[in-house]
Amino acid sequence: MATANGASVTAEEVEALRKQLEELQTSLKKKEAELELVAPYSRSYGRTMVKSVLENESEGLSLVGKTIRVGGWVKTGREAGAGAFAFLEVNDGSCFQNIQVMVDKEVAEEVGGLKQLTPTSTCVLIEGVLAQTPPGTKQKVELKATKVVHVGGTDPAEYPLAKKKQSMEFLREKAHLRPRTNTIGAVARIRNALAYATHKFFQDRGFLYVHTPIITASDCEGAGEMFQVTTLLSKVDEVPEVAPPSPEELQALQDQVAAQGAAVKEAKAAAAANKEDKAAAAASKEAVAQLLKLKEQLAKAEEAARNAGGIPKTADGKVDYTKDFFSKPAYLTVSGQLNGEYYACGLSNIYTFGPTFRAENSHTARHLAEFWMIEPEMAFCNLDDDMQCAEDYVRFCCKFLLDSCRPDLEFIAKMIDKTAIERLEQVANSSFKRVSYTEAIEILEGVVASGKKQFEFPVSWGIDLQSEHERYLTEEVFKQPIIVYNYPKDIKAFYMRLNDDNKTVAAMDVLVPKVGELVGGSQREDRLDVLTRRITESGMPLEAYAGYLDLRKYGTVPHAGFGLGFERLILFATGLDNIRDVIPFPRWPGNAAY
Ligand code: 4AD
Ligand code: MG
Repeated sequence: MATANGASVTAEEVEALRKQLEELQTSLKKKEAELELVAPYSRSYGRTMVKSVLENESEGLSLVGKTIRVGGWVKTGREAGAGAFAFLEVNDGSCFQNIQVMVDKEVAEEVGGLKQLTPTSTCVLIEGVLAQTPPGTKQKVELKATKVVHVGGTDPAEYPLAKKKQSMEFLREKAHLRPRTNTIGAVARIRNALAYATHKFFQDRGFLYVHTPIITASDCEGAGEMFQVTTLLSKVDEVPEVAPPSPEELQALQDQVAAQGAAVKEAKAAAAANKEDKAAAAASKEAVAQLLKLKEQLAKAEEAARNAGGIPKTADGKVDYTKDFFSKPAYLTVSGQLNGEYYACGLSNIYTFGPTFRAENSHTARHLAEFWMIEPEMAFCNLDDDMQCAEDYVRFCCKFLLDSCRPDLEFIAKMIDKTAIERLEQVANSSFKRVSYTEAIEILEGVVASGKKQFEFPVSWGIDLQSEHERYLTEEVFKQPIIVYNYPKDIKAFYMRLNDDNKTVAAMDVLVPKVGELVGGSQREDRLDVLTRRITESGMPLEAYAGYLDLRKYGTVPHAGFGLGFERLILFATGLDNIRDVIPFPRWPGNAAY
């Protein structure tokens, strides 16, 4: 066979090469299968993930007879056979299930006996042979230990989570150890699956993932619930360059300046009266120089007085932000939306997924000071499309969880919320009901008038729906997720598109059972004149929104988006009672531990 460069090879040579390749491929497959059993990046320890043993098709049976190593933390351990052996339930976090390990007394001798292995939370890495368990046992396989490779001991008398059941409040105080509990482990895997589902949903639909800033100078929601970012406070305790004068000293300096001012006037007059008098001219010059020196002294003293306490102040007594790190006030973001819009109005469909911060003094089970938000923003998109996207995304997440986190969900359904799986199935399989704000108010007024229900906050057109109203609508009236849309403009943010009735805006909230508000979104105001008016009416400075207005000036586009509170989605999925238990390290007023 002639090759492109004129050289030739024989068919035999090609055949020999093909054979060699086939052999290599077979050998590669074998090695890959072996390698798969070893957890990624654990070759030095040779650890196999419990998940790859118990969650394969045969539930481990296909691996019987193999020698493997499992490593993790002992959930429960007990000695049996009058101390001849022990059973350890070991969990490594890769899946909900523990693997049972049987250790003979002799095998444990080298590490000081079985008692070193059985306390809850002991860390072990154990080599053994996978064996089939007798019929009727929970799991099809167990590990018969042949060698204890590592022990990280635990003193059961001191271990804070030694007791079987601890309150969620107590676990929050031990946030460094709570990942070892069944509930927090399940929540962590569910959270991870939902984050993965989020990226998958948007990536599969061609959205670009955009990182919006955490530090910002604008208040997107205009609610004034922002944490300030400043380096001025760190200077408070610095020793000032000029010691601040006492009020008396300052007054004395001011008097001196005034007196010298008068002296200058007199000296100038004397010099002017006799232009030939060289001594008078020199005296006048000297008086002016003296005055300038005193004035400079006074200015320094005044600045030192203003900045007494360390915070630089302007002449009118306000904080001087030109001296701050960013030369102006800066905050932690409450939402990436405005930055998201900048990108959507140039790249079409984008989404953000990052932390957001709110300094609201809420102690409820639905609010955090630091939470994660997913915010898609779509060009050529109106309120209808926006609602459809929110619904599809939430339903996709529910379906994804049902497919990928069964054992965790089954545990949650057994121990925490019996309806958790049903709720996910219902949401995955049925579309959301859409109700206008006006209809929602009519429904609520109806139930109040009929005496069926009383609310703490009275209901009338124009109110901001309270959590009790939202939950009643979704849990009692519709018994499914609903989308309320077209809210009164006065209770919503300036950026929402004004409807033709001039009373409502194209806003929408997704409300779900157990949680209430899960999503807040809107079509954005894309008309320059209307937006300018809305910003001014909201009492905000136009300069701060110059870039935002530019988007409407140069190539404006109908666009819409929403924000989904990630922890609220996890609350909804798990049925846990408190949002503080679905984020690894919760922050709320008075608490930023760890
Ligand atoms: O309704 P919000 O305030 O909407 C916005 O921030 C818009 N800028 C979003 C957008 O259109 N891009 O917040 C969105 C969601 C809420 O529906 C709620 O699920 C969640 O964020 N959320 C909180 N979650 C936990 N703790 C808090 N303090 C929360 N505040 C809002
Ligand atoms: Mg909202």
